[in-house]
Amino acid sequence: MTKNFDLLIKGGTVVNHDSTGARDVGILDGRIAGVGSFDADVAGEVIDATGLHVLPGVIDTQVHFREPGLDSKEDLESGSRGAVMGGVTAVFEMPNTKPPTTDVPAIEDKLRRAHGRMHCDHAFYVGGTEENADDLPELEQLPGVCGVKVFMGSSTGTLLVAGDEGVGKILSRIRRRAAFHSEDEYRLRERRALAELGKVETHAVWRDVETAVSCTRRLLALAKEAGALIHVLHISTRDELPLLQAHRDIATVEVLPQHLTLSAPDCYDRLGTFAQQNPPLRTAEHREGLWAAVQSGLVDVIGSDHAPHTFEEKSATYPKSPSGMPGVQTMLPLMLDHVAAGRLSLERLVDLTSHGANRVFGIAGKGRLALGYDADITIVDLKAKRTITNDWIETKSGWTPFDGMEVTGWPKGTIIRGQKVMWEDELVAPSLGEPMRFHSTLRG
Ligand code: DOR
Repeated sequence: MTKNFDLLIKGGTVVNHDSTGARDVGILDGRIAGVGSFDADVAGEVIDATGLHVLPGVIDTQVHFREPGLDSKEDLESGSRGAVMGGVTAVFEMPNTKPPTTDVPAIEDKLRRAHGRMHCDHAFYVGGTEENADDLPELEQLPGVCGVKVFMGSSTGTLLVAGDEGVGKILSRIRRRAAFHSEDEYRLRERRALAELGKVETHAVWRDVETAVSCTRRLLALAKEAGALIHVLHISTRDELPLLQAHRDIATVEVLPQHLTLSAPDCYDRLGTFAQQNPPLRTAEHREGLWAAVQSGLVDVIGSDHAPHTFEEKSATYPKSPSGMPGVQTMLPLMLDHVAAGRLSLERLVDLTSHGANRVFGIAGKGRLALGYDADITIVDLKAKRTITNDWIETKSGWTPFDGMEVTGWPKGTIIRGQKVMWEDELVAPSLGEPMRFHSTLRG
């Protein structure tokens, strides 16, 4: 008998743009070829998804996989292994590597390194600097590039464009939406002495609310003036939200699971420097403000900002300790736990992890569970009660700030272009990740 599908995901509850309901998903040649009710015998292979939810593949639009140059923290293989174990089907990787990803050879090098080693699909940000501003229109068009990333405040690495002139120059040249780390470098320099030796809780005093707010205000004005589209990464304060709300024509918004889950002072008391991150974890009032923005639709995407450093590096005395925490593998379990606790609907989660990335970045053929799209699918068990542990974490850095946390909801399987890559916590395919394509650069 002729088979209509290579693979059929049968008996699950599909969550997509349409609704949540009992539907089977048929896959042919790596694409979604049917959503409906199908007999098992029309497919070469059948996954029994009874009792499970079938989501469009989770896309993490902010990870730092550290290769090249910082491979003791992470590399493209280990980082993407963590991604698929956590139900993530595609990632956008950040340019603050060594050397930074700021020219054609550096981008080509990352794509070469990714080939045959990355477990999930991928795209790379090109770092924007004052020096390469004139080259960015060409760089942002390269295959495998998801856009330009600009650090307005210094964080890990050397990338920095502190002033209005540099940011304005970049915005006036580029065509695609650019992503921004929005913390005001001048204020950070003025206030550096407020970061007290051995007191990591002063991280959020030094890098205070105004540091984020004043930078986002400047950035929005510059983008408006240039007529440019911006994506403001990891919003950490409730005070930035009205500003962003007033600029929805040009600005899209990301928040991180850690800013939605942890808060000061408790996170610093419990985790010390392991809770150190830029922009910082702040008080519960800010966390609740971010939740309101998730619920109201102001937030477009959830990204993990997976930013691993080794245990030894993180154990240094503050402020010598580096900022950042792993997160690509825990993003979905944490967010499913928030769904279980009633903080957001499963439909809104899918909007944030898949539809949002598709909409914000114009990813070609990804981010929707719909006919003709790549068969990138994340299958989850909403009822599973599991404990997140360091043992489960694939990152080279070997730790998670969520070690010991019990969650309800867990990724059961990761399917990428029709290939089962993770099933029940096991990696079940060789590394087959491919570069993503984007609407604005399909012509090359
Ligand atoms: O805490 C952070 N760590 N924030 C960033 O923006 C960069 C990241 C890193 O690369 O370590």
